[in-house]
Amino acid sequence: MDFEDIDTVAVLGAGNMGHGITEVAALAGYDVRMRDIEDEFVQDGYDSIEWSLDKLAEKDQITEEEAEAALDRVTPLVDLEEAVGDADVVVEAVPEKMEIKKDVYTDVEEHAPDEAIFATNTSSLSITELSEVTERPEQFCGMHFFNPPVRMQLVEVISGAHTSDETLDAVEELAEAFGKTPVRVRKDSPGFIVNRIAVPQMNEAAWLVSEDEATIAEVDATTKHDMGLPMGAFELSDYVGLDVSFDVLEYVNGELGRAYEPCPLLREKVEAEEFGTKSGKGFYDYDGGEGVQIP
Ligand code: 3HC
Repeated sequence: MDFEDIDTVAVLGAGNMGHGITEVAALAGYDVRMRDIEDEFVQDGYDSIEWSLDKLAEKDQITEEEAEAALDRVTPLVDLEEAVGDADVVVEAVPEKMEIKKDVYTDVEEHAPDEAIFATNTSSLSITELSEVTERPEQFCGMHFFNPPVRMQLVEVISGAHTSDETLDAVEELAEAFGKTPVRVRKDSPGFIVNRIAVPQMNEAAWLVSEDEATIAEVDATTKHDMGLPMGAFELSDYVGLDVSFDVLEYVNGELGRAYEPCPLLREKVEAEEFGTKSGKGFYDYDGGEGVQIP
């Protein structure tokens, strides 16, 4: 599949990343089928896109007409066959668990056109291993967006062991058409590049607090204000989702060991379903949840 032949995009998963990627693709003029497993999840994702488009229009970053047109291009769906049946590219953003993703790909393979490209938004998992459950490993790559996709410029385009250059070129051009800056990641290593570097920072912040070396406020004040980052380490952990950081740490720790052993404080939070902004509570409390507020 060449970039020029891509018209229709399917996004699997309507959570923080799935709905954000859908919004970006729709703003770029693509028809997008956004699919999740329950009506409620799809509706939440759709509402979040509407909220975000309204915000962008309010701030004159897009016109009201552009916001409406983008929303019109989004088809929220639960039926997988309908979602991927005529897709040129399937971007998958389902939970960060190898087994869940493999099951999804087994089903998608049955319904997607033979020539469609599969691009996974996984944060850390092996692209090669995921691609091998499909019959098109050469048409399979990573397309890793950052939260919130509508605001973050970078997209890691990751090659699996079997990915063809044609697929990587098409996905890179697609990321550019989405208004993003793709960076090709040549090697499919655990956590790729950004998370390999970023997630240990969030983990180390949790270790500092769990060992009573510093408070959350102190860590966020230094990382945010003194290091000049837009969010403190704990604010960013909440924003990304503690479940996501935890899963990445566990996976990369299993693959590489070293500095990636998840701090028990993170495990406690995940077990208590305190995932951060999306669940209304993480290291901080948020009014309402929904995963769109900034602390
Ligand atoms: N769409 C539209 N508007 C949005 C929005 C969205 N998705 N998210 C926030 N906003 C709105 C807010 O509601 C607020 O509106 P208001 O002014 O009307 O109250 C406004 O944007 C805030 O905008 P600002 O420009 O003032 O805020 P910031 O400059 O702080 O930008 C941010 C917000 C872009 C989220 C910034 O804080 C930031 O860059 N944070 C770090 C994000 C980051 O590092 N992400 C990567 C995480 S790692 C990852 O995702 C990898 C994964 O694999 C784990």
